[in-house]
Amino acid sequence: MDRDLAGLAASAADCRRCDLYRDATQVVFGEGPVDARLVLVGEQPGDQEDKAGRPFVGPAGRILDDALAAAGLQRDDLFVTNAVKHFKHEMRGKRRMHQRPNQGEVEACRWWLDRELALVQPAVIVALGATAARSLMGLTVALVREGGKPLAWADGRPGIATYHPSAVLRARDDAARARTYDALVAALRQARDMA
Ligand code: URA
Repeated sequence: MDRDLAGLAASAADCRRCDLYRDATQVVFGEGPVDARLVLVGEQPGDQEDKAGRPFVGPAGRILDDALAAAGLQRDDLFVTNAVKHFKHEMRGKRRMHQRPNQGEVEACRWWLDRELALVQPAVIVALGATAARSLMGLTVALVREGGKPLAWADGRPGIATYHPSAVLRARDDAARARTYDALVAALRQARDMA
């Protein structure tokens, strides 16, 4: 990782901009080359990412890796990050269950996302899921209607909103799973062509 990104990640380690740091193991900052043309923005780290300190290394990350390969993209060429950098969860027994970050948490963490984007200066930003799209747009993006179409984010940068890889995992049946996965791959392929 480039020195400026590493410095930014080091300062994020002490972030107290919202309360999510209290229950998380560590901050999970974005990773990838500073000259990446494509940035992927997820929602927030999951249980495994929280432990590893790296984005998209758990089950959703495995779907993402498959979809990237199917779209002809190399993860090492991309900058991969999240709208929110701490794992928000509640305990159910011994299990840490994912909780969706609220608007205040997304807005607080946008400060870090803005700085990542200012350093990387990507040609294209892909929002994986509604939370990332809301962070980048400042309002709700209807993924069913707008997903997969090129759009301009609030800061004017081009991009695409598509499904979060965990939507593939949560799909109700095989047909829905295939549809969601295919839409994710198609959006990544389109982003590759735009970058
Ligand atoms: N889900 C996300 O949105 N980001 C991760 O890093 C992992 C799972």
